[in-house]
Amino acid sequence: MQKRTLGQGLEVSALSLGAMGYGKARELPDRDDMIKLLRTAVERGMDFFDTAEAYGPFTNEVMVGEALQPLRDQVKIATKFGWDIDPDTGVNSGAVNSKPDHIRRAVEGSLRRLKTDHIDLLYQHRVDPDVPMEDVAGVVKDLIAQGKVRWFGLSEAGAKSIRRAHAVQPVAALQSEYSLWTREPENEILPTLEELGIGLVPFSPLGKGFLTGKIDVGTSFDTSDMRNSVPRFAPEAREANRKLIELIARIGDRHGATPAQVALAWLLARKPGIVPLFGTRKLERFEENVGALKVHLTQDDLEEIEGSSIEIKGARYPEEHMKRVGI
Ligand SMILES: NC(=O)c1ccc[n+]([C@@H]2O[C@H](COP(=O)([O-])OP(=O)(O)OC[C@H]3O[C@@H](n4cnc5c(N)ncnc54)[C@H](OP(=O)(O)O)[C@@H]3O)[C@@H](O)[C@H]2O)c1
Repeated sequence: MQKRTLGQGLEVSALSLGAMGYGKARELPDRDDMIKLLRTAVERGMDFFDTAEAYGPFTNEVMVGEALQPLRDQVKIATKFGWDIDPDTGVNSGAVNSKPDHIRRAVEGSLRRLKTDHIDLLYQHRVDPDVPMEDVAGVVKDLIAQGKVRWFGLSEAGAKSIRRAHAVQPVAALQSEYSLWTREPENEILPTLEELGIGLVPFSPLGKGFLTGKIDVGTSFDTSDMRNSVPRFAPEAREANRKLIELIARIGDRHGATPAQVALAWLLARKPGIVPLFGTRKLERFEENVGALKVHLTQDDLEEIEGSSIEIKGARYPEEHMKRVGI
C-alpha cells in the first residue's frame, strides 16, 4: 500500500482503519471476525490502526491489542485519552478529563490493553477547557521522553489549542471530521495545519456510511446506533443530501469507481499530508475502500465537485456533542 507522511516524520499507509465500530458492545459477538479483519488489513499492506480508551470503554483496545500484538512491529497503533473514565471500572462520566495524572493513568491502561510497550500516536480525544493545552502537551512530552509514546496528536481541537500544544510538543496529526459533506476544517484548521507542518487524519471520511450511497431514507439503524441522534441522518436531511450521492456516483461511473471510493479519493487528492481513517466491519468493504487508492480524480472531477455547491442539511453531531468540538 502507498505510504504518506503526517507531521514530525510519521510515515504510515495512505489509508487507516478505525476500530471504533468493533466490540463497543461488551459481549463482543463478532470478536473473532474483527480480529481476522484487522490481521487481513495488515496482510494487505495497511499499517495504521485507530482505537481509543473510550471505545467500549476498554473492550476495543483489548481487541485491537489481541489482533495486532503478533504483528506489532509491522503496525502503528493510535489511541486516545481525554474522557473522564474510571481506570478500574471503565465507567465514563461523559465529561472530558485531561488532568495530567489522569492522562498518565489512562496511558498505562492503554499500554496494558494494547499489549505493547509503546503507543505510536497518542491523541487527546477532545480538548479539556479546564486544563491548559501546555500542560497536556507537557505530559505527552514526558511520555515521549520515557519511550511510552512516539507521536502526539489532537482530535477536533480548534486552531488556538493546536498552536498552544504544538509550541510545547510538536503535533504529528490532527484527527478531525473532514469529508465531502463536512468541509468546515477548510476555513481555519487546514491552513493552520499546513503552516505548522501537521498532518490530518480525517475521521468519518465516508460520512458515517452515508457517502457510500448505501444509506437512504428507508435505512434503519440499531437502537444503540449514534446516527439515530445525528441531525444529518434525520429522514428529511437524508432525502436532501442524496444530491451529493448522485454527484459522486456520476463521477464514480466515469472511473468505474463506487461512491465510497470517490469520497476517499477526493480526500487523498486534497493534500499529501492527509490519511483518511475509515471504519468497516466487513472485508469486502475494506477491499472496496482500499480500491480508492487506484482512483485518480481529474481536475474536471474536482472542479465539478467545487462547482456543485450542494448545501448539506443537518448538523454532523447532536447539539451536546457540538459543544465539545473546535475548542
Ligand atoms: N476522533 C474522534 O472523535 C472520532 C469520531 C468518530 C470516528 N473516529 C474514528 O474514525 C473511524 C471511522 O469513523 P466512522 O466509522 O464514523 O466513519 P466512516 O468510515 O465514514 O463510516 C463507517 C460506516 O460506513 C460503513 N461503510 C464503510 N465502508 C463501506 C462501504 N464500502 N460501503 C458501505 N458502507 C460502508 C460502515 O459499516 P460496516 O462497518 O457495516 O461496514 C460504517 O457504518 C472510527 O473507527 C474511529 O476510529 C474518531
